[in-house]
Amino acid sequence: MSLGDAGLPRSAVPAAFDVGAQSYDRMVGANPGYHEHLRMSARRMRIPGAGRGMRLLDAGCGTGASTAALLAAAPEAEIVAVDASQGMLHQARNKPWPASVQFVQGRIEDLADLGVEGPFDGILAAYLLRNLNDPDAQLKRFVELLRPGGTLGVHEYSVRDSRPAVWTWNAVCWGIIIPSGWRHTRDTTLYRHLWRSVLTFDGAARFRRRLTDSGFIGVHSATVGGWQHNIVHTFVGQAPA
Ligand SMILES: C[S@@+](CC[C@H](N)C(=O)[O-])C[C@H]1O[C@@H](n2cnc3c(N)ncnc32)[C@H](O)[C@@H]1O
Repeated sequence: MSLGDAGLPRSAVPAAFDVGAQSYDRMVGANPGYHEHLRMSARRMRIPGAGRGMRLLDAGCGTGASTAALLAAAPEAEIVAVDASQGMLHQARNKPWPASVQFVQGRIEDLADLGVEGPFDGILAAYLLRNLNDPDAQLKRFVELLRPGGTLGVHEYSVRDSRPAVWTWNAVCWGIIIPSGWRHTRDTTLYRHLWRSVLTFDGAARFRRRLTDSGFIGVHSATVGGWQHNIVHTFVGQAPA
């Protein structure tokens, strides 16, 4: 499939993940820090009391890597994990989970039609916002879905604020991720989309402003260590009380 400057049309993204679903865990398992960085973002949400009595949403849960990170940060919470890709969700559901974790297939934009209602005490969106048609509208829906004072954590690639990060991103995509995607799936669509969509996504400062403009308060962000320094970020904000 041909890609525009910003990657795939966003409505085509979940189907592209269907193609990559079987290899997804192997691919990200080869990425040093992938799981640890997700756990770091979940911890940065500072969910109190191991999440006891709380409801959390994992928006765009994929094969469950971010769900596992939320579960580690809040083992006592009830977690609803939503993804639009049937293939990714199939991988997630095939893993062992406690009864407190529930998976739902559908677009995050259609949450109400899926029978998923707020309020949530926390929402984690890992590698999702960049893949949406209208991230601003979704961020506003997240504010409404959260209890007053509830926390949004966005775990996302953002390279525009750092020239070394852009160089590293180009080198890693063309040297490792795209060739490895080809070896695993014989289709590079998803991996070229990843490359382009990250290059055109907000810089960290712009995304923090987007969160504030969407109604979040106390917005801050931090990056991670290793080669993904200034490439992977955790953004955190609160729904106003
Ligand atoms: C890069 S994966 C990340 C999965 C998981 N959060 C993780 O950290 O490993 C992005 C996921 O977002 C899902 N996705 C993309 N657009 C979506 C949408 N509009 N609604 C729900 N899920 C969506 C894709 O199907 C894919 O599984």
